[in-house]
Amino acid sequence: MAISKVGVLGCGLMGSGIAQVAAMAGYPTVVKEVSEEFLKKGMTGIDKSLAKFAEKQTITPEKRTETLERLKGTTKFEDLADCDIVIEAITENLPVKRETFAAIDKIVKPGAIFASNTSSLVITEMITATRRADRFIGMHFFNPVPLMKLVEVVATVMTAPAVMDEAMKFAVSLGKVPIRTTDRSGFIVNRLLVPYLLDAIRALEEGAGSVEDIDKGMKLGCGYPMGPFTLLDFVGLETTLYIANIMFEEFREKRFAPPPLLKRLVAAGHHGKKTGRGFYDYSDPANPRALF
Ligand code: 3HC
Repeated sequence: MAISKVGVLGCGLMGSGIAQVAAMAGYPTVVKEVSEEFLKKGMTGIDKSLAKFAEKQTITPEKRTETLERLKGTTKFEDLADCDIVIEAITENLPVKRETFAAIDKIVKPGAIFASNTSSLVITEMITATRRADRFIGMHFFNPVPLMKLVEVVATVMTAPAVMDEAMKFAVSLGKVPIRTTDRSGFIVNRLLVPYLLDAIRALEEGAGSVEDIDKGMKLGCGYPMGPFTLLDFVGLETTLYIANIMFEEFREKRFAPPPLLKRLVAAGHHGKKTGRGFYDYSDPANPRALF
């Protein structure tokens, strides 16, 4: 069951990053999007990231060219047929994911492994749309995928132990550090990260400190690379709200309940860095201005 060809569903922020690291690691990689327009956008992102690595001499100009040559973009499921693993990174919507997995289950060779990059949805509920229950796992990458070392490899109650072992080996071959976890909303990292981020918002609401001071506190006091509000804006406030709601639904625990300020900012369309405004204003991207 050795993996020699990789398929990726979705060429957004996460899918493009996963396709990029697979191609950089030497795998012929096919990445599927719903339209040429989305595909082009994702491929441009990959090109930019490789250019940045080349500029910083993290990779050679030859490796940049070879990586791009190993990547094939497509809008057809059929092009995934001979992949040994297909990693899904499409929209976080369970019915859409089930529909997509059901469609590729008929096309991709029976021995191939299916993996979802979901951050909070129940993987077991995707599996039942396919006929490969024992060969279905979660592979949760972190943003930005080309830089972040971690991959959570998720076993469900139906996953064959040999498939988990293969996925762990595959993650290492991508230059990542895998950890094993089980199919519970949030896995390990979001289980701890999401309550922390929500608590930072509650601390702000309670007047414990300003956005800037809370960020400085956690960066300099705990050695975190980003303070909680910088990270919230980076991940996206609508993404955090979505994950928090799913985790609250799963565990019914207050620590996963989204605070009012998060809901209001999302309702206002202030989703963080990507919309130019969240807890910070990014009008001058080099100097974000704290808003609270
Ligand atoms: N490809 C190539 N280069 C990239 C890149 C990419 N995709 N993204 C950023 N870079 C470059 C930057 O342009 C920068 O280049 P420069 O030095 O020439 O300006 C360089 O990488 C380093 O960036 P920084 O100067 O900002 O340096 P940092 O040391 O701060 O590293 C970071 C950046 C790795 C993002 C670091 O800030 C970090 O680890 N932040 C925390 C990120 C995090 O927690 N991610 C997880 C989010 S949660 C998640 O994904 C789970 C989901 O389910 C919600």
